Amino acid sequence: MNYQIQTFDEYQAAYQKSVEDPEAFWAEVAQNFHWRKPWTKTLQWNFDEPNVKWFIGGKLNITENCLDRHLATRGDQPAIIWEPNDPHEAGVTLTYRMLHDQVCRMANVLKRNGVRKGDRICIYMPMVPELAIAVLACARIGAVHSVVFGGFSAQSIADRINDAQCKLVITSDGAFRGGKEIPLKSVVDDALIGCPSVERVIVMTRTRTPVAMLKGRDVWMEQELKQVTADCPAEEMDAEDMLFILYTSGSTGKPKGVVHTCGGYMVYSAYTFSNVFQYKENQVHFCTADIGWITGHSYIVYGPLANGATTLLFEGVPTYPDAGRFWEIVDKHQVNILYTAPTAIRSLMSFGLEPVQKYDLSSLQVLGSVGEPINAEAWHWYDDNIGKNNCPIVDTWWQTENGGILISPIAGITKTKPTYATLPLPGVQPVLVDENGKIIEGNGVSGNLCMKFPWPGILRTTYGDHERCRQTYFSTYPGLYFTGDGCLRDEDGYYRITGRVDDVLNVSGHRIGTAEVENAINMHTGVVESAVVGYPHDIKGQGIYAYVITDQLPDGHDADLTKRDILATVSRVIGPIAKPDKIQFVTGLPKTRSGKIMRRILRKIAEGDTSNLGDTTTLLDPAVVEEIKAGAV
Ligand code: PRX
Repeated sequence: MNYQIQTFDEYQAAYQKSVEDPEAFWAEVAQNFHWRKPWTKTLQWNFDEPNVKWFIGGKLNITENCLDRHLATRGDQPAIIWEPNDPHEAGVTLTYRMLHDQVCRMANVLKRNGVRKGDRICIYMPMVPELAIAVLACARIGAVHSVVFGGFSAQSIADRINDAQCKLVITSDGAFRGGKEIPLKSVVDDALIGCPSVERVIVMTRTRTPVAMLKGRDVWMEQELKQVTADCPAEEMDAEDMLFILYTSGSTGKPKGVVHTCGGYMVYSAYTFSNVFQYKENQVHFCTADIGWITGHSYIVYGPLANGATTLLFEGVPTYPDAGRFWEIVDKHQVNILYTAPTAIRSLMSFGLEPVQKYDLSSLQVLGSVGEPINAEAWHWYDDNIGKNNCPIVDTWWQTENGGILISPIAGITKTKPTYATLPLPGVQPVLVDENGKIIEGNGVSGNLCMKFPWPGILRTTYGDHERCRQTYFSTYPGLYFTGDGCLRDEDGYYRITGRVDDVLNVSGHRIGTAEVENAINMHTGVVESAVVGYPHDIKGQGIYAYVITDQLPDGHDADLTKRDILATVSRVIGPIAKPDKIQFVTGLPKTRSGKIMRRILRKIAEGDTSNLGDTTTLLDPAVVEEIKAGAV
């Protein structure tokens, strides 16, 4: 690819061009891809409706760019290296030729099962090669994938399936995650009781857990694959045809389906992959995220493959069978780029250096961080012990809605500063605004982070509800895309993300809405009302603190058992990732006379800082604060 920046001067020149003439800048980048038909207009946009279109009239298929066009030059190069959960199980390496073959076969399986261009497909799978293959198979035939992370509950899957009216589900009998076995098919079966749109379920065999197979609805992937050939021409897609939906949490209501389209997303994920990580021929890139999240979509699957890179896909968790697992994988596969989350780093730090010292990490050249602010201690530990002070750390800030990284150092090119995401990538125009929406100029300032110009990877809509997209992102500050994050810009013009300014939590890098957790808690019988806030957590970054009013505890249930019942309820409604870390039973919540919960006070108490709770005189019943303070857990 011809778009990799090599020096800081080049970065500055690219940045300047991208601001002065964004259309020319992105048109030049996009020339590096294979288009069946060129676009006629590079960009059309307004942030009021919003309406953003890139590469208008261009025709392409992203899998031709990720697979077919590499066959002549790198058909025998590894595309995917798969490392299983159990280190003793044999892994799999798929060359570009093998991956192409398998994607075409899977695409034919989808067609055989009635899938047509534009149909939505839900994928609920473990981190196995078949997950990446399923994603690409959808893209091959123009079906829209909606991957649901394997930690979500049946209810969450059902909500997502119904919202997108998915026609087919791809899953497996079960998943191995660390020492656990998760019965994925059985969870899907529970979900499908309430999902009339689903006509077919394709089941892969992974754990050999016995599963129910309904005649007429459920088919085995292995058997289906025997019925097809590897000949599957790619569907011609418009640049603005939908590529995928990915659900993410916001401050209100149910998760929304963020929509990304074929052309812009491809160009943006590929461009940022190549530049941020400075990927070089034959390197091995290991992104530890799950493909169920945007990081996995962009930096395990699409970004690396569009660049002809070798991407490592790991099924397990960092602490199984022990806390040396990441380092063992780095050593075994000679990983060059490691991209992980601060929560993983903090968790591994707590095991000391012994697990690190057992392995040779000298292959590493670039380290990445994503998903939440990285604290200085974790940054230095990563730098000293993993990078041996020899690998640039790229602290990459972005969101599901962005498609790819927006603010980040370019590895080895941008001077890094611990805890700073540093500078915007070319094409990215951040602004900080105050509460009134006034743009704050100059350096040494802080405010709410917005973007004033579109980049190719920006979301196009939220599925089935464009108005929600407008309200959530484009109405707070008219004319701007609002990220929901607070941010400071220091004297050097470097950006540091300080965390969400809305009611969205970031727990172990997972985005969870407080309202969502409250709704789940309130579904527990006996719960009258609840309020959820985040508090600083050493490993998770943020923990979930729930204040709960119950009417009465059932016979034989004490407070402890009821708390566990509430946790079970939240797991059932959302999934284990949303379980509160702390529950405090209270008799009332601090509300203003108009009935609004004063979360500021609850946050302070959850943080253990009760010395200065600010003005409480507007509260309906100030005494409730004393009670909550006294009972804090
Ligand atoms: O608060 C920011 C935080 O994660 C949010 C986006 O979450 P999600 O859509 O799940 O995507 C995560 C992975 C791209 C942001 O609004 N966030 C993400 N990366 C960083 C971060 N906060 C600080 N520093 C980061 N590098």
